[in-house]
Amino acid sequence: MTSISAITPMVANAPIGVFDSGVGGLSVLRHIRAHLPNEHLVYFSDAQFAPYGHRPAAEIEARALAIGAYLIQRGVKAIVVACNTATAVAIAALRGASPGLILIGVEPGLKPAAAASPKKIVGVLATPVTLASERFALLREQISASTGATFLLQPCPGLVEQIEAGALDTDATISLLRTYVLSLLTRGADTLVLGCTHYPFLLPQIQAIVAANATQPIQIIDTGAAVTRQLTHRLAQCQMLSKAPNGALEGVTSGTVEALQTAIANLLHEKVCVTQMA
Ligand code: DGL
Repeated sequence: MTSISAITPMVANAPIGVFDSGVGGLSVLRHIRAHLPNEHLVYFSDAQFAPYGHRPAAEIEARALAIGAYLIQRGVKAIVVACNTATAVAIAALRGASPGLILIGVEPGLKPAAAASPKKIVGVLATPVTLASERFALLREQISASTGATFLLQPCPGLVEQIEAGALDTDATISLLRTYVLSLLTRGADTLVLGCTHYPFLLPQIQAIVAANATQPIQIIDTGAAVTRQLTHRLAQCQMLSKAPNGALEGVTSGTVEALQTAIANLLHEKVCVTQMA
């Protein structure tokens, strides 16, 4: 991967690669697309290997490196790891393998949540791998120490599978979500962090559960907009913002073409060309 990045000339109109285990990264991509409409985006869904959230770290790292190598071969000027789980366990390896490339990761928004939380009790919804990672432990310690906030951790097994299946409003999804959200509310959380990029697609369902059960106002933190600001800043710094009119969006998947096309149509209301990468 190092040699590939070294021989690829960086041009401002080159695409930006965005990847996730599946469709979750589209919740970040929609912010990028809205704020940087001139950028050509290549979205990689690793659907064949989703969910990442309970895989061994070494497997997730191997997938991140393979996807990174593919995107670099495609001539991207930047990669957004639109996945908290892959960022937690693989961003260091990815950085080491692609020096010089703009590489942006996604982390649960503990800092904005601590700032927003009146009682300094924050609930974090994320995958088991993210919550068990060293990187997350460090972030939690740092933000706790600097703000005095308490973080309540809630792993959410099963949710990503429901979102991948497009089952946003089914009884099974609502029942899982109720268990996870209520466990945080009953422990006093006044702010909830969506620590997995799949979860913003369940925001209306989460808001409904909160509205029916919370005894205090609850804030919900998603980092899609902050990640987009960071990406914009890094591209501007390197004079790499695209000047091309109407940036394209294309999909690449390790799963089926139809599944990603349908997901993008349902979640982003866009019709895109998708190719399969074995
Ligand atoms: N969307 C991902 C995240 O932000 C991955 C979830 C999964 O594959 O388990 O963590």
